[in-house]
Amino acid sequence: MLANTLTEDRSGSAYIKQSNQLLYTLLKMRVLGIETSCDETAAAVVEDGHRLLSNIVASSMDLHAQYGGVVPEIAARSHIEVILPVIHEALQTASCSWDDIDAIAVTYGAGLGGSLLIGVMTARTLAIAHDKPLYACNHVEGHVYANFLTDIGPTLSRRPEFISGSRAGGNGILKPVQNDESSYMLPEKQPKFPMLAIIVSGGHSQLVLFRNHFDYSLLGRTQDDAIGEAFDKVAKIIGLPYPGGPSVSKLAETGDPLAYKFPKAKMPGYDFSFSGLKTAVLRQAQAEIGESYDFPSIKLSERLSDAQKANIAASFQRVAVATIVDKAKQAFQEFNPTSVVIAGGVAANAELRRQLTEAIPLPIDYPDLKLCTDNGAMIATLGCFQIMHNQPAADPYKLVPDPNLSM
Ligand code: KG4
Ligand code: ZN
Repeated sequence: MLANTLTEDRSGSAYIKQSNQLLYTLLKMRVLGIETSCDETAAAVVEDGHRLLSNIVASSMDLHAQYGGVVPEIAARSHIEVILPVIHEALQTASCSWDDIDAIAVTYGAGLGGSLLIGVMTARTLAIAHDKPLYACNHVEGHVYANFLTDIGPTLSRRPEFISGSRAGGNGILKPVQNDESSYMLPEKQPKFPMLAIIVSGGHSQLVLFRNHFDYSLLGRTQDDAIGEAFDKVAKIIGLPYPGGPSVSKLAETGDPLAYKFPKAKMPGYDFSFSGLKTAVLRQAQAEIGESYDFPSIKLSERLSDAQKANIAASFQRVAVATIVDKAKQAFQEFNPTSVVIAGGVAANAELRRQLTEAIPLPIDYPDLKLCTDNGAMIATLGCFQIMHNQPAADPYKLVPDPNLSM
């Protein structure tokens, strides 16, 4: 009931802040995080903003794969079907009853309207029914907070090996990940401020400079497609399944990254652009089979050879990743951050990790792959920090989704 006490007392006085800090050191604070912004229904319990007690994700990705992308109505319907079992399992894995939960954190934007609505309405209902304070989280900010998880609860296990060589002083190449849902590779320490966050997901590509918790500036962002979206579109052109990122990067391993000279968009400041690159891939694929600009992209993959596809995947990936890394390096040189973190689904990309390791002279602790893509743990962690930094709780009778929420 710690968080209840805290929200009722949120008068901002120094005395209450001091007592809050004291309470945090004496008691454990557990937050249930709920995430439904796209096609993953996810719930997790995080303790004190750093200890992962559970992380359950149910994905409707298989249902969307046949359509080559997320179908919003199918995603929303799947959320309705599984959200309560997912939350139940998150509590059970964390060995928590509702009495052990201090607050609920939920993603309220950005994302698909129907998907967000299911998460928000579920969180509102549970907050009212179990008398818990409710915290509204920005999905993109949540991705950044996956980097603050450093510890593991008793039902999960810590993977000792490094998946990126950067921390071990290696070459940043990914090692094969154990297919064990309960095993996590976590950094030993939380990142320090000022912190440069490289946010690369299916819906967002942004560089954000955090001076402290909840005190940040957006340095730049994509002016058109997000990098993950570009991976997904290129995957369609070369006939790979949705989601495109993992399949393009897998195929790229066998291709020549210098086979094609795709253009890198020159954008002002820290902004990015990926639509020109995507079009260049389409034109190259059409040229490879001797067809003109109006040849339907959907039929290209039947006519491209395996070697051509692999070369396109590798050449595209090299330039897409370099687009992000060039700007990240520029921001690193200008702002001299103490730590650099990477967030969002594309953080799983091995070539991105390799190029960043070369470009940035700081050891970067990457989140476990299971914490890079959408999950409830990142939202629960952000919720913990909202409480610890006296951010206002949401009204459980009024919170509504904001599909276009920005940072
Ligand atoms: O963060 P996320 O799970 O969802 C959004 O908030 O968008 O990111 C999903 C995106 C998809 O576009 C997917 O293709 C991409 O992350 N992705 C990858 C990789 N794994 C996932 N992109 C490149 N390489 C990967 N290994
Ligand atoms: Zn995401």
